[in-house]
Amino acid sequence: MSDAFTTNNFGIPVASDDESLTAGTQGPILLHDHYLIEKLAQFNRERVPERVVHAKGGGAFGELVVTGDVSKYTKAKLFQPGARTESLVRFSTVAGEQGSPDTWRDPRGFAVKFYTEDGNYDLVGNNTPVFFIKDPIKFPDFIRSQKRLPGSGLRDHNMQWDFWTLRPESAHQVTWLMGDRGLPKTWRHMDGFGSHTYQWVNEAGERFWVKYHFKTNQGIEFLTQDEADSLAGSDPDYHRADLYDAIERGEHPTWTLKVQVMPLDEAEGYRFNPFDLTKVWSQQDYPLIEVGTWTLNRNPENFFAQIEQASFEPSNVVPGIGFSPDKMLLGRVFSYADAHRYRIGPNYADLPVNAPKNQVNSYSKEGPMRYSYNSPDTPVYAPNSFGGPHADPNRAGDEGLWNFDGEAVRAGYIEHAEDGDFTQAGTLVREVLDDAARERLVGNIVGHVLGGVSEPVLSRVFEYWKNVDADLGKRVEEGVRAGLG
Ligand code: HEM
Repeated sequence: MSDAFTTNNFGIPVASDDESLTAGTQGPILLHDHYLIEKLAQFNRERVPERVVHAKGGGAFGELVVTGDVSKYTKAKLFQPGARTESLVRFSTVAGEQGSPDTWRDPRGFAVKFYTEDGNYDLVGNNTPVFFIKDPIKFPDFIRSQKRLPGSGLRDHNMQWDFWTLRPESAHQVTWLMGDRGLPKTWRHMDGFGSHTYQWVNEAGERFWVKYHFKTNQGIEFLTQDEADSLAGSDPDYHRADLYDAIERGEHPTWTLKVQVMPLDEAEGYRFNPFDLTKVWSQQDYPLIEVGTWTLNRNPENFFAQIEQASFEPSNVVPGIGFSPDKMLLGRVFSYADAHRYRIGPNYADLPVNAPKNQVNSYSKEGPMRYSYNSPDTPVYAPNSFGGPHADPNRAGDEGLWNFDGEAVRAGYIEHAEDGDFTQAGTLVREVLDDAARERLVGNIVGHVLGGVSEPVLSRVFEYWKNVDADLGKRVEEGVRAGLG
């Protein structure tokens, strides 16, 4: 037994860990048992709301070591040759709630934070290079269609396929999702992608478009649907445990960080619209360039403080990195910090896991749960004549800028020569998958559709897959019709 006495939250030793204060042994509990009240009240407030998406996850700390030389493309300090930067990752599923199984078919979140000397850089990606939609206005509808029915509280495949088939730009991502990548064996055995196109700016002020790829050095491995279903019952925390246990064993997983770089002026003429998140850039056109090795080597000491309260936001970009005309990215730049202010509180950046490692010279102040503050002689406004911080004049123009003008419109993306909702999904089916993977894809789609899809959605599902690939569509229809009997 420890020598330490239990105290209440203010360090005052308490009289009992076991008995409440009552008026006689059968009498009522006394209101002035403030320690009992502190315990019960604190317990009621132990949870913060779960993330509205990506609620179930796990994570670890690590390091990025730059082994390549991309300095001609970006001046970002974390990507300069030899740089080492502390990092945090949180992996997750998307649609499931906090206690949901790790092995449900879903994209996996791949949210990375780099604690750089210029502030935090968050690369909030997935294990897929594309996404279901290309305009942020559709995100809430999309997510609702993947979550639960309002009446029964049940998930509903009909609703999922209804949305997907009404938004055919989803085809590329749904092909990934229904294939092997939709069920990674572990988080260690999957790639990560920044997915969006970002901008890089070099020391000379030259700008480039860039896409990020984290290539797993553990090899890509996946679960079959049967394996995943069985694990969902027997070991719902399978992925969380796998990462934790591997790091505890000293098996530190690594990924090679690579990028595709496109000169700014090639975007307009490229065969795919390079800002459309439902498309990839061909690696023949833009080969992968090595940046460095990213290693996970340290488990959290407290899951709640370091993983549950971790906040990642695509708005956190550091000098040398900027945004692009990808509307999804621009929508996300607003959405995440807003979510954190609600979920954790307006001063979430004060928490150790979210705070940058460099000096913060911010004019923001006060608000609930604030505990960092400037020295009393720092002015509370800018500009000022009393030595307060001032904006860095060298940052003007290095934030990732591009030319645009025109009237305010609500319009889709400009179609490039080979764009189209089904083009890249078809290429994935015909040119990337082998026969066995195609066979599993058909089986996964058929199984999913038989999970409760009815007319008029069902006919659209057959049409959707025939548009992706005629043979695949035929096999899906035959499989589903046979299953329906
Ligand atoms: C989490 C919004 C698209 C990856 C979240 C959260 C919100 C959100 C509100 C919860 C944040 C929190 O409470 O901590 C959106 C919107 C999108 C969008 C509005 C589209 C306009 C995407 C895309 C990706 C992505 C395209 C990947 C490329 C993630 C990840 C998380 C997340 C990985 C979990 C972060 C963590 O582990 O804390 N998203 N999202 N999201 N999103 Fe998105």
